[in-house]
Amino acid sequence: MSTVIEAVAVSRAVGQPLDRIDGHAKVTGAARYAADAPIAAPLHAAIVQSTIPCGRIAAIDESAARNLAGVVEVLTYRNAPRVPVLSFDFTTPVTEELAPLQSDAIAYDGQHVAVVIAETFEAARAGATLLRIGYERREAEVSLDTARTIEHPEQWFGDDAQPRRGDPERAYNAAAVRVDATYTTPEETHNPLEPSVTVAEWRDGELTVYDATQWVRGTRAVLAKSFELDEEKVRVISPFLGGGFGCKGFFWPHPLIAAMAAKVTNRPVKLVLTREQMFTSCGYRSETRQRVRIGASREGRLQAILHDVLAESSRVGMFVESAGAVTTMLYDVSNIAVTHRIARLDVPTPTAMRAPGKAPGTYALGSALDELAYACGLDPLDVLRRNDAAVDRSSGLPFSSKQLLACYERGAEAFGWSARPKAPRAWREGGELVGWGVATATYPALRSPAQARVTLSTDGLVDVASATHDLGTGMYTILAQIAADELGVDPRAIRVRIGDSSFPVAPVAGGSMSSASVGPAVQDAARRAYHEAVAIATSSGESALHGLPERDVEARDGALRSKADPSRAVTYADLVRLGGSGAIEALGSAAPGDEDERLSFYSFGAQFVEVRFDEELARLRVSRALGVFDCGRILNPKTARSQMIGGIVWGIGMAMLEETVRDPRYGAVVTNNLADYHVPVNADVPDIDVLFVEEPDLAFNSLGARGVGEIGITGVAAAIANAVYHATGVRVRDLPIVPEKLLGAGPAAG
Ligand code: MOS
Repeated sequence: MSTVIEAVAVSRAVGQPLDRIDGHAKVTGAARYAADAPIAAPLHAAIVQSTIPCGRIAAIDESAARNLAGVVEVLTYRNAPRVPVLSFDFTTPVTEELAPLQSDAIAYDGQHVAVVIAETFEAARAGATLLRIGYERREAEVSLDTARTIEHPEQWFGDDAQPRRGDPERAYNAAAVRVDATYTTPEETHNPLEPSVTVAEWRDGELTVYDATQWVRGTRAVLAKSFELDEEKVRVISPFLGGGFGCKGFFWPHPLIAAMAAKVTNRPVKLVLTREQMFTSCGYRSETRQRVRIGASREGRLQAILHDVLAESSRVGMFVESAGAVTTMLYDVSNIAVTHRIARLDVPTPTAMRAPGKAPGTYALGSALDELAYACGLDPLDVLRRNDAAVDRSSGLPFSSKQLLACYERGAEAFGWSARPKAPRAWREGGELVGWGVATATYPALRSPAQARVTLSTDGLVDVASATHDLGTGMYTILAQIAADELGVDPRAIRVRIGDSSFPVAPVAGGSMSSASVGPAVQDAARRAYHEAVAIATSSGESALHGLPERDVEARDGALRSKADPSRAVTYADLVRLGGSGAIEALGSAAPGDEDERLSFYSFGAQFVEVRFDEELARLRVSRALGVFDCGRILNPKTARSQMIGGIVWGIGMAMLEETVRDPRYGAVVTNNLADYHVPVNADVPDIDVLFVEEPDLAFNSLGARGVGEIGITGVAAAIANAVYHATGVRVRDLPIVPEKLLGAGPAAG
């Protein structure tokens, strides 16, 4: 663009490992999460859930609950406000075609069937236990083993769900080396530290909701439609999240129940889901069964991949755990067949969980490639390298930027890969078997249209506002860094406000797209504000920069300055005063163009893992992990590194600990607490190192940054399973890799 753009201050904050600007508020308790909503004396709501998987409510006895001191109201399908059943789309992101408390039908164990509203949290909880509900139960199908309704979705989120190219069956059958293996991953549950929460208040026919959501705009749209209100009459506020990971991305029934409760009682209502309820109320990662067939040459060159995925969804909502999605693009292979089959079960609806599809998919594919390497007698890393895809074979398009080979190289060097003994079970140290594994990480680079507002005011404050979110990822800090560079101010002088549906539009904080979508919008808004400030500075007679051409002005150290004589300066606060309108305010926007038609946008990485197995104690530990990532330009190495470490920790959980177990007859989750649902703790987590191979992806957006949220978990489970095979000679194809699956380990096993 113009010379003025080039005159904008050179980047100083972006790229720096800045501490979180919201860190102080968080550690001092000043940060207000949804349950801390500034609402005096709300009523408390406790949800009652179905205890059958399928059937109908036959009788409800509310008398004991209603007679309990403090109970104000009980809502069931018999007396709840009527709301329409909505269908999922990207404007009304309802996960289930099942408006809550509208009928006696039961679609899964854990479905919300009543809410008890009381003066205190304790009375609401006690009242909930006093509700007597009789059911007529029908036979349920809750397992992939017995599923009778299997669907073959054609598309999922705009992608072909059954992609094919070449002649995969023929190429597979003709191949010199074949791998045919089935891998399974169990249901997993997000378990953010902060449970789902809604505080709802009606005033003069307008609804305000404090909600733990990754998408204030999506939540607002569903609530507005449900109550037949203009969207302007609904405000959704969610400034801080204690994690989300996808379970707060789309719309679940509980905010609607909280809003109904507030409407009926005409009082503000606070609804906090219990940890137990979190296992059935806001999605989970579907179980997957993945058969992978690979045909290759003796040199390990891929000739065919057939990847068949079976996953589950509910009767009332469709979610496809698209584990085969990246199989079509990740390697250089001419013949591909990917299928996704979805079993409809009497269970809650699964949803996006960190790297949906890609986390289980990279486990199966990454394991199968390791099996291929052993079948060919090759180093697994060599097999990955020699099948590197120079272009995206699924579309034929070049990648906008791809540094995967460099990730393999840097990782191998940093990890010391060349010292790896080739044979499995060949390495012992101090009585433990040691093994190393490697796998590829990938995640698509996504973007959506977004807007942001930058406001400069007379007190010198720079305010940035957008309806995006910080799930704990670092968005507050990154947006401040971006605005700071455009305006030449210190990022700590910037106030970022996010998580409010009244702010300029932003997409769901999911799909690792927030930085790449909202960042450029903030940059655009800040540039516009800068231009306005320069126009005032050069035209106002009272400005020290009066009469200077715009190109001779630059932003630096909190002021506009003459490039030739930096002591000639005007602060933004003075410029706002000179401008005379009280503020300089600029709305910025950014949106993807037609670049998707010319280029393929993905991030990549390489995961290296060391495991140690003590055969006598049957103790398996990850002792070292290294992730090397290519995500374009890294906006903040500290928050990006934290994202990757978090992803790798979760990959350890996925590989070795996590499993949501259902009762096979009734579908009830029996691991519905953090004692029985195992997540990694400090003792499970070794030193993790993270490296970035940085190449700004300026074809993707003006910042050159792709997302860093989800890729961190991808490939980790495969690298661990591969390391376990290398250490023990046992190939575990069913996650999680608990020690009993390694008992009897020996050279003949696997
Ligand atoms: Mo993410 S699983 O798209 O919140």
